[in-house]
Amino acid sequence: MAGPAEAAAALADGALVILPTETVYGLAADAANGEAVAKIFAAKGRPRFNPLIAHVADLAAAEAIAELDERALALGGGFWPGPLTIVAPFKAGVSDLARAGLDSVAVRVPAHPLARAVLAAFGGPVAAPSANRSGRPSPTTFAAALEETGDAAALALDGGACEVGLESTVVSLLDGPPRLLRPGAVTRGQIEALIGPLAEADTEDAHRSPGRLARHYAPAAPLRLDATEAAPGEAFIGFGRVGPAELNLSRKGDLAEAAARLFGRLREADALAPAAIAVAPVPDEGLGEAINDRLRRAAGFVG
Ligand code: TXA
Ligand code: MG
Repeated sequence: MAGPAEAAAALADGALVILPTETVYGLAADAANGEAVAKIFAAKGRPRFNPLIAHVADLAAAEAIAELDERALALGGGFWPGPLTIVAPFKAGVSDLARAGLDSVAVRVPAHPLARAVLAAFGGPVAAPSANRSGRPSPTTFAAALEETGDAAALALDGGACEVGLESTVVSLLDGPPRLLRPGAVTRGQIEALIGPLAEADTEDAHRSPGRLARHYAPAAPLRLDATEAAPGEAFIGFGRVGPAELNLSRKGDLAEAAARLFGRLREADALAPAAIAVAPVPDEGLGEAINDRLRRAAGFVG
């Protein structure tokens, strides 16, 4: 079976690799190689104005590609390797296409041991969006990743089910106060404890981070949120005691378990070809903010 060394060689060759991370599976390419990165946009059907995250092995490698100020160093020191992405001024080593032409770059040090081994063996930044086709739920299992974009990859690494299950938290440290561009497993409270209050994303951020705007993470069936029971023809994804036991995010009401299961449950519900998917309410505290963000976007309520 192919391992990290073969994956690093494929990346160096300009090929795409299905890369497991602790958040979701990524579709990876050499970030410095514009032609390789172009294959990612083609495979996902992703608009080229939507920039990709550059994954690196450690904080020192992050400093080689991005201008990291004190706040960035505090966040990187506190949460890397882990599910946090920092948007900072661009320095060097990442292609224009991966950055969608911006003078900033999104950088993250993933925690999954296979991702770390590939990054160490490759030695440079790796661009990797979630391995889903654009607009669809992110893959959190090897099988889902293969189904989404496996055909475009020269090589796929099986890292098991993703522990976190939601994409990384994205924080912008560009001009002005820090802003939360995408909630995730590193929560607002954890970030504010290190660098102070987070401001709301502004309209400039919306241009730079269009992932915030489109209908996203969406199954084929329409979603109905905050449901307490299923209407005829609907599939029902429960949380805690609300909704069915078999298609539940977490019967015991645990938010980490719910996050890890969210995209898988959306895929399972979709496979029933229902008229709609009803979803029970999920509390908005802690990790719930990220779960509700993905649910609102999947339902097409964006803002
Ligand atoms: O957990 C994750 O972050 C996964 C795994 C594979 O690491 N990757 C991921 O990538 O979710 P992607 O491409 O699906 O999401 C990247 C997000 C998008 O919303 C994009 O708009 C934003 O980061 N982004 C990337 N570069 C940016 C930049 N320079 N400024 C603002 N937003 C940026
Ligand atoms: Mg994505």
